[in-house]
Amino acid sequence: MIRQPIITVMGHVDHGKTSLLDRIRSSTIASKEAGGITQHIGASEVPLDVVTKICGPLLKKMNANITIPGLLFIDTPGHEAFTNLRKRGGSISDLAILVVDITKNLEPQTYEAMNILKEYKTPFIVAANKIDLMTGWRKQDTYSFIESLSKQAPNVQEELESKLYMLVGKLSEAGFSSERFDRVTDITKEVSIIPVSAKTGEGIAELLMYVAGLSQRFLEKRLEIDKEEPGIGSIIEKKEEKGLGITLDVILYNGTLNVNDTVAFATSAGVATAKIRALIRPRPLRELRESSSKLYYVDFVSAAAGVKVSGSGFDDALPGSLIISTRNPNYENEISSELAEVFASDKAGIILKADTIGSIEAISKLLKSTNTGISKKSIGKVTKRDVLDAFSMRATDPHNAVILAFNTQIEDDALAESQATGIEIIKADIIYKLIDDYKLWIDDQKKREKELLERSLVFPGKIKILPNSCFRVSHPAVFGIEVAAGRIKPSYLLMKEDGDMVGRVKEIQDNGIGKQEAKKGESVAMSMEDVTFGRQIKDNDVLYTFISSEDIRNLKYKHADMLTEEDKDLLEKLYEMNSKNRIEK
Ligand code: GTP
Ligand code: MG
Repeated sequence: MIRQPIITVMGHVDHGKTSLLDRIRSSTIASKEAGGITQHIGASEVPLDVVTKICGPLLKKMNANITIPGLLFIDTPGHEAFTNLRKRGGSISDLAILVVDITKNLEPQTYEAMNILKEYKTPFIVAANKIDLMTGWRKQDTYSFIESLSKQAPNVQEELESKLYMLVGKLSEAGFSSERFDRVTDITKEVSIIPVSAKTGEGIAELLMYVAGLSQRFLEKRLEIDKEEPGIGSIIEKKEEKGLGITLDVILYNGTLNVNDTVAFATSAGVATAKIRALIRPRPLRELRESSSKLYYVDFVSAAAGVKVSGSGFDDALPGSLIISTRNPNYENEISSELAEVFASDKAGIILKADTIGSIEAISKLLKSTNTGISKKSIGKVTKRDVLDAFSMRATDPHNAVILAFNTQIEDDALAESQATGIEIIKADIIYKLIDDYKLWIDDQKKREKELLERSLVFPGKIKILPNSCFRVSHPAVFGIEVAAGRIKPSYLLMKEDGDMVGRVKEIQDNGIGKQEAKKGESVAMSMEDVTFGRQIKDNDVLYTFISSEDIRNLKYKHADMLTEEDKDLLEKLYEMNSKNRIEK
């Protein structure tokens, strides 16, 4: 049989995810025949008859013969719930609705949601929410966007067009081509944007129609299940409940779970099992957070559904783990090979600590797309051992000597060790922030390395001694120069055009202030220790930086990116001078 598609609602804070679901739920009550709606574990079930009722004749236009029994919506707070909706090789979310406040366009968490959806190859549509906030919008008593639009003033219609145009532009910058749903020509290549208002309900008809139609047309195969099979689901959260102890919020995506079934799941120590004592769902339209009088107990639950699982022995279960009835003879292998996949690491790379299997997986995927190796992944606090492991990675590449800690704490001795060894621990509780901070750290490291390298390399320079500018004849000699090409720094060795060595630059000053470098065009004062002005050097002399032929080759072939064209020409000349001198000597 075919189960309901699992639809996650994602988007930036306050763009209206929960309101949209609330609207769908209350619309459901409004269409009385429908037999209501069940809400459980942040999951809301909308039966098919409600969908048909709200969509009316629109659904026929989609030309789809709808056989799915309804829709199962999941409201995700942040992205953890989504990343924990795991099954092997992907997500159990079949489709996503990306909610975007049309008055605000894309915001950081919208981008994060899109990145995650891209990584998991989850198809999505965009709900452009809050259209009622547009100046001049007149609320219409309909769920249909198209109907409401036709009744809006021309300037309001234009305003909406321009807002949608901006949204399409931003989505395109983010790598997605998109269009207003009724102008989409190829639904497999373009993201459909559906303008809606969670507040007034306008657009809800098209939204539901698209979600149902797309699921039916493209996901039917994926939705085939067998209710007789042993249940399999994903643990999205672990929570302590009054009177129940540690419970698991589970989204079941195949088969059936019964009270008294033994189920297997992952812990840090490997595969564990426990017996289900109770299966709990909130009463229709109630939140699970409310008091237990609003909860009811069931003997079994079949896919697809959200359910709270209670029993003793769930304390160590890891959110994001599969949960499988042990009636499935393969349960142990299923879980352990899955763990091996998620925790597989590279020989060299950074260290990743996170709170759930889902976040480990999502962050690994995102890091992989930036070509970052991960040498160790684990769940829990950052320990001293992690810092030592990161330290040992310094030898492979200093960029690997870092710990990324997502939604987790740092133990005291780990912090002390990180301070002692200079191992950076990057901590964040938003995935995109963690990855961004890591990229910033890498850029910073590279900048510093470049500075160090620049300091250690000798770059070509040509200077001219300015006439009548000798301040002191010797010990040290001090005189004015102009940099004619390249740059000059203290400690550089200077020679004449004929290859005669003159001596080392001691200091460079500009109006009495010491400088680490003078560049082409600058006039500065220079001191040299073992030189007597008037003997080795005099007014108008031209001097060159001495660079050994080997160092010249090193610069040219290894650090060409740090050289200007003029530097390269000058190096050419210095190289010729070196070889000429060698022949002459
Ligand atoms: P988080 O769960 O915190 O990420 O937020 P959310 O995306 O679930 O947003 P929520 O539904 O809580 O809505 C945020 C605010 O926007 C609330 O004050 C809503 O009343 C308001 N809001 C949501 N949708 C609409 C809409 O279509 N029109 C108007 N005018 N306000 C809306
Ligand atoms: Mg919300």
